[in-house]
Amino acid sequence: METGSSTLRIGIAGYGHLGQYLVEKILKDGPGLGLILAFVWNRNSDKLKGVVPAELILEDLSCFADRRCDVIVEVCHPQIVRDFGLHFLSQSHFMVGSPSALSDPDLNQKLRQASLQYSRTLYVPSGALWGGQDIQRLNDSGILKALFIRMSKHPSCFRLTGDVLTDWTEGEGRRVLFRGSVAELCPLAPNNVNTMAAAAVAAGKLGFTGVQGEIVSDTALKDYHVVEVEVTGPDGFSVHTVRRNPAKLGAVTGSATYNSFWNSLLICKGHGGRVHLC
Ligand SMILES: NC(=O)c1ccc[n+]([C@@H]2O[C@H](COP(=O)([O-])OP(=O)(O)OC[C@H]3O[C@@H](n4cnc5c(N)ncnc54)[C@H](O)[C@@H]3O)[C@@H](O)[C@H]2O)c1
Repeated sequence: METGSSTLRIGIAGYGHLGQYLVEKILKDGPGLGLILAFVWNRNSDKLKGVVPAELILEDLSCFADRRCDVIVEVCHPQIVRDFGLHFLSQSHFMVGSPSALSDPDLNQKLRQASLQYSRTLYVPSGALWGGQDIQRLNDSGILKALFIRMSKHPSCFRLTGDVLTDWTEGEGRRVLFRGSVAELCPLAPNNVNTMAAAAVAAGKLGFTGVQGEIVSDTALKDYHVVEVEVTGPDGFSVHTVRRNPAKLGAVTGSATYNSFWNSLLICKGHGGRVHLC
């Protein structure tokens, strides 16, 4: 819903690292910026009690519409995007914190349709992606030829679904874990490749099957994650960026990504019935 006023009501689904950060920021800085918290949901609501004001705790996510939000932010798990994404878009703009969920072509298509049908924006935060708007511009002009993203992290920072990294040892150095399309990578490392998923959204014409990615384990990376982006355009045009994202050992999310999420949320004021990288 649009309130007609300049105040945006925000619902947060998920109270892990990102959820806690966003809730704290909205409570502290939101009112001055025209943002107020409408609800916080977590699958285990005990985690919220005594920390989040009682009236803001939503016990049952199916009742989200009662809180009349302008924007709902998912920061928990791709499953919640699958289960609730369409419902969220029928009522509010939706910022999908786990865009790896969009690698499922059927869900991707349904969310795009819902966004159009209800004139609500499906926002995809750029996360640790550098140059997303530039990639999107090349894509929209039809001159983006190829896109490759490499994410290198300490092995303790990966959460993989298979057993490719169960045997790592400190000091082993660099190991390429997987190279392939972002569509293939998303199910393998759903929590680690959201940045690549955002890139696949920016490069919509290449899409999840056309954008290539690589995940690399490197025991030397104790203090930061590295995100490399290689963009290829026509006539020898190319861009290569290397982003060092400070991160603690074992952290899935680099520390600069938190601030990036907050800045993304500030953009979510409604951009019509479409997908928007923010
Ligand atoms: N877009 C990006 O660049 C980016 C960056 C970091 C994290 N993420 C994604 O955002 C989400 C949250 O990240 P985080 O760092 O806060 O994670 P986190 O592990 O700290 O917190 C996740 C929260 O979701 C809950 N949760 C886990 N599985 C769930 C499920 N199946 N259903 C409902 N709730 C569930 C957990 O209990 C926890 O409260 C993750 O999906 C992560 O992959 C995206």
